[in-house]
Amino acid sequence: MTVHHIDRLSGQDLTLAYDQRVISEDLAVTIPDHSFTVIVGPNACGKSTLLRALSRTLKPAKGRVLLDGRVIGSYAAKEVARRLGLLPQTSIAPEGIGVADLVARGRFPHQGFLRQWSKDDERVVAEAMEATGVADLADRSVDELSGGQRQRVWLAMVLAQQTPLLLLDEPTTYLDIAHQMDMLDLCAQLHDERGHTLVAVLHDLNHACRYATHLIVMKEGEIVAEGEPAEVVTVELVEHVFGLPVRVIPDPETHTPMIVPVDRRRQVR
Ligand SMILES: Nc1ncnc2c1ncn2[C@@H]1O[C@H](COP(=O)(O)OP(=O)(O)OP(=O)(O)O)[C@@H](O)[C@H]1O
Ligand SMILES: [Mg+2]
Repeated sequence: MTVHHIDRLSGQDLTLAYDQRVISEDLAVTIPDHSFTVIVGPNACGKSTLLRALSRTLKPAKGRVLLDGRVIGSYAAKEVARRLGLLPQTSIAPEGIGVADLVARGRFPHQGFLRQWSKDDERVVAEAMEATGVADLADRSVDELSGGQRQRVWLAMVLAQQTPLLLLDEPTTYLDIAHQMDMLDLCAQLHDERGHTLVAVLHDLNHACRYATHLIVMKEGEIVAEGEPAEVVTVELVEHVFGLPVRVIPDPETHTPMIVPVDRRRQVR
């Protein structure tokens, strides 16, 4: 007997649109279980739109997203939030909310009428703030944080949700180079040590190549290439997708593909 494996998160035959504006058509996507999937592609190609569809934030105009074998729209919102955490590209915090209170909201999906705030919730929130380096900010108001501090607080909230699936839309924006690497290492750790499945949208192709176990390349609403970065990323692909002449060399640290833009200014001199 063959047992057919069905990945936890996938989309079939998807048409994604905002009213009449169609962004993707006939899109099929599978997030391999336990992968660190990275989505790359030019601005406005539909990366965030896809993430919204995969997280039930956007209802497909056609087709279906399956989460754990069921159409995602058929779950209660809280049930989705126990299975899957989303860090949107931009989030707005309730006015005047404190850092610890915002992170604590990550526990809401686990609470109910009969199950109130527990010591366990307290510990999970503390751990999430520790992991993202925002423990020192616990008593501050979210409004008064820097862009990078705020980004890490939002991530802490998503971590406090303790979901086996994490969808992160540009988690490294606003972060300085050290905090970018901290963020990506933390993601890699969730992937390696806890077996979490991660999907992150990143703009830095070199980061994508270093961290992704599965790379999805999008252009104009379509997936134009996917697979292991070393197999997918070529001079031709980057030129085709971004319209940018580049060199691809081995990253001296990790030996994954490293993209270096051709110096167009020097060529004309
Ligand atoms: N709420 C919305 N209503 C109408 N159109 C939208 C909405 N959100 C996005 N779009 C449009 O959908 C297209 C895809 O947007 P999306 O946000 O998915 O791009 P993206 O790949 O995430 O880009 P970026 O790299 O800039 O974040 C764009 O043309 C955008 O203008
Ligand atoms: Mg986006």
